[in-house]
Amino acid sequence: MTHATLDHATVVEMDKKQLHPVYHPSIHKDPLVVERGEGVWIYSADGRKILDGMAGLWNVNVGYGNEELPRVAYDQMRNLAYTSNFSGMTNPPSAELASILAGMAHPSLNTTFFTSGGSESNDSAFKTARYFWYRKGKKDKIKFISRRAGYHGITVAATAATGIPRYHTMFGPLAPGFIHIAHPLVYRYPGDITPGETVGQAAARARRGDSAGRPGYRRRLHCRTDSGRGRCHCATRRLLPPGPRNLRPL
Ligand SMILES: Cc1ncc(COP(=O)(O)O)c(C=O)c1O
Repeated sequence: MTHATLDHATVVEMDKKQLHPVYHPSIHKDPLVVERGEGVWIYSADGRKILDGMAGLWNVNVGYGNEELPRVAYDQMRNLAYTSNFSGMTNPPSAELASILAGMAHPSLNTTFFTSGGSESNDSAFKTARYFWYRKGKKDKIKFISRRAGYHGITVAATAATGIPRYHTMFGPLAPGFIHIAHPLVYRYPGDITPGETVGQAAARARRGDSAGRPGYRRRLHCRTDSGRGRCHCATRRLLPPGPRNLRPL
């Protein structure tokens, strides 16, 4: 039995045993059952030919039905289907790919940490950034700024980075250290943009204005000033440089 011999109704029935990310099973009551793909087209089990404008989840970069990739995968899986890269181990294909990728995007981006998908890549990037600052002696430099409406994946940290509230419901508490600022779409930007200002600058300005008292966000300093000596004693961690707008008496 090949999968192609299963009709639409049978697949939908069997699919009830599968959990789909984030969504309620009721949304999968009548799913699009994609049977095969060719070039930019996908074909559904109920006989439709559909232009895959999203290219999967933006990851089918060479189109469907490519001949070379399955051949390479077949040869590699026959030769060595798996090996760990933990504990002082590696293998020729991953070493070769890493050396090809080195410097391709930017001269200083010359090492690669391989992952299995986007969410894991983001989690790995968060850990790498924190590790970098840890090694620089800045162990408190742990925050990540992401955009509202942005999607970053389904792992715990990637969910916290995601700026879509309905993806957070039921999964709290979120991983700490993630800050959301306005998204960069000029058309949908909800705040005011003053002439000459970019959306990013407007978002940063709005952030400064509405951040007071929100845990985990940039906080205003609650300072007691020693008049005459110009020093201040801060009651919260120093997240903003002391300036007139950031000071208020305790
Ligand atoms: C921008 C972005 N980041 C992360 C992800 C998560 O990738 P994955 O589904 O491979 O975990 C996606 C998936 O659509 C994405 O579009």
